[in-house]
Amino acid sequence: MVGTDTDIIIKSGIAGKTAEQIIIRKARIKDVPQIFKLVNQMARLKNNLLPRSMSELYEHIRDFIVAVDDDRVIGTCSLHIFWEDLAEVRSLAVDLEYQGQGWGEQLMNVIIEDAREIGMLRLFTLTTIPAFFERFDFRVGTKEELPQKTWSECFRCPKFTECDETALLLDIAPGYRGPQSIKKGFNLTQV
Ligand SMILES: CC(C)(COP(=O)(O)OP(=O)(O)OC[C@H]1O[C@@H](n2cnc3c(N)ncnc32)[C@H](O)[C@@H]1OP(=O)(O)O)[C@@H](O)C(=O)NCCC(=O)NCCS
Repeated sequence: MVGTDTDIIIKSGIAGKTAEQIIIRKARIKDVPQIFKLVNQMARLKNNLLPRSMSELYEHIRDFIVAVDDDRVIGTCSLHIFWEDLAEVRSLAVDLEYQGQGWGEQLMNVIIEDAREIGMLRLFTLTTIPAFFERFDFRVGTKEELPQKTWSECFRCPKFTECDETALLLDIAPGYRGPQSIKKGFNLTQV
């Protein structure tokens, strides 16, 4: 789980940086400027995630986890809870320099585990890259399966009138044993 005052060290055989140099932990206030830069840079470059303002990030900082290389935020992801049985995976982004090294996958593993730990039953995401989320056993659904309030941010999206996003859902009800399709082993250790 992602502890409140403990860090999670990811130990795995990821290429590039050694695992000990990069940790995934809950975001802290001081991370906000870097999360802002990363999320908005990716929103600009890839046009597939929503830009976030500094005030939104401060307001929702408890939703966020970060992957940090020393003090540098190299990846982030957030979990936004809507109701007792529904939460959204948002703002998943990995720094260009660190993409393709498994950090997006590790952030997803940690956010799913965190959701499971707090007793969340179902996750969803709206995305243009369904294949990435299917790796974690998300299944393609329809927006109609989601309550209307989950679309509340759609009006802010530049692609609102010609939406190209797919709704994906993941049930993590009791008995869920974690993504089955992940090839790389990972091991979360609390320190
Ligand atoms: C999507 C993103 C988070 C992936 O992060 P990453 O660290 O590069 O991904 P990983 O290295 O962990 O990739 C893990 C696996 O997913 C696959 N994958 C990565 N990006 C993918 C994509 N866009 N579509 C499908 N599969 C993808 C990789 O090929 C890899 O598979 P392999 O282990 O079989 O080789 C990153 O590319 C990013 O920040 N993109 C811009 C923002 C974005 O699109 N966010 C998601 C919005 S919903």
